[in-house]
Amino acid sequence: MRKVSVKDLEVKGKRVLVRVDLNVTLDREGNIIEKNKILSALPTIKYLADKEAKVILVTHLGRPKGEAKEELRLDSVARKLAELLGQPIYKTDQVVGEEPREALEKLKDGEILLLENLRFHPGETKNDPEFARQLAEMADLYVNDAFGTSHRAHASTEGVARILPSAAGLNLEREVKIMSEMLENPERPLIALLGGTKVADKIGLIEHFMGVVDVLLIGGGMANTFLKAKGYNLGRSFVEDDKVDEAKRLLELAEKNRVKMILPDDVIAASEPSEDSNQRIVAAGSIPDDWMALDIGPETLKRFCEELENARTVVWNGPLGMIEIEAFAQGTKEIARFIADLPVTSVIGGGDVVAAVESAGVAEKMTHISTGGGAALEFWEGKNLPALALLPEKVTA
Ligand code: 3PG
Repeated sequence: MRKVSVKDLEVKGKRVLVRVDLNVTLDREGNIIEKNKILSALPTIKYLADKEAKVILVTHLGRPKGEAKEELRLDSVARKLAELLGQPIYKTDQVVGEEPREALEKLKDGEILLLENLRFHPGETKNDPEFARQLAEMADLYVNDAFGTSHRAHASTEGVARILPSAAGLNLEREVKIMSEMLENPERPLIALLGGTKVADKIGLIEHFMGVVDVLLIGGGMANTFLKAKGYNLGRSFVEDDKVDEAKRLLELAEKNRVKMILPDDVIAASEPSEDSNQRIVAAGSIPDDWMALDIGPETLKRFCEELENARTVVWNGPLGMIEIEAFAQGTKEIARFIADLPVTSVIGGGDVVAAVESAGVAEKMTHISTGGGAALEFWEGKNLPALALLPEKVTA
């Protein structure tokens, strides 16, 4: 069944509260280094402005834990939005209260107002009904376009939808459509490429994927925990010691279910996680005691590419190395370039890997870049996403 869409709403002259996910990846200087979330939010904003709604945008940025943090203000996001939309974005310094109310009174039809970072208010992540009420009373209608935050039952994703007439935005609709099709009826072989630091975040997904995908390629920090479970010496590499038994269980499960689960054969190891540290290629089982694995090695890259070459559908979440440091971002970028040139359906999720795909210059060649990290993982796992579940279904005669 389809959700009620923003296109089903009468919006002219109405105040429309739009939950977007502009939780963009920032570099150490606070510059926006990920375009995908902003670009994905544009169609719904443009649609509403063109239809002469009064558009009130709300988003979180980072995890400021209920208090204002200067480095997480939304001014640079507002500037970027204005530049891409070619239209001014009015922005408040408060999330709710007198200042946003006054700004809203001045807002004309077709104009856009961005409220300050929702998570500066403690009520947001607590899904506080009073905060949800304060947000809702500023608007006539609510549109949720934040697929990336749909796994969070927060005031702006869940609480408000309980109060105002609600609909799905264009990005949310597109994400759900593409990802449902990909999992329900994929062209095979379907290969999942999973990276990132923690196995803990992906245990449920790996287990679920064993019944869904044809091949599982594992890289990034999480691969270390699997390698440790195989009895390898990982030196000073990041390992989740409390998840080694779980990793062992997953390896056994893969064997039992005859799922090809491929771990790194070799890694780029370094004495320190820094650009100018001593670095060398070593077999995954022979990392020197005081060194650490920070990227996949060339043999692993070759092996992963050989598998990917046979794929018809590829889903990818999580980087394959410590991509914050350029020297260890190479495996992730090489794989991104390789997938981009394959005739496959490619679906990429997660802020870090999206930033790497963008910096490799191949984002446009991917079939779909999701705005969801955790949300995409939960969606792929078949979990109920609370913010999505709450949006009304479209009733057709
Ligand atoms: C994301 O970037 O995955 C979403 O914006 C959710 O962010 P959160 O994990 O801080 O809730």
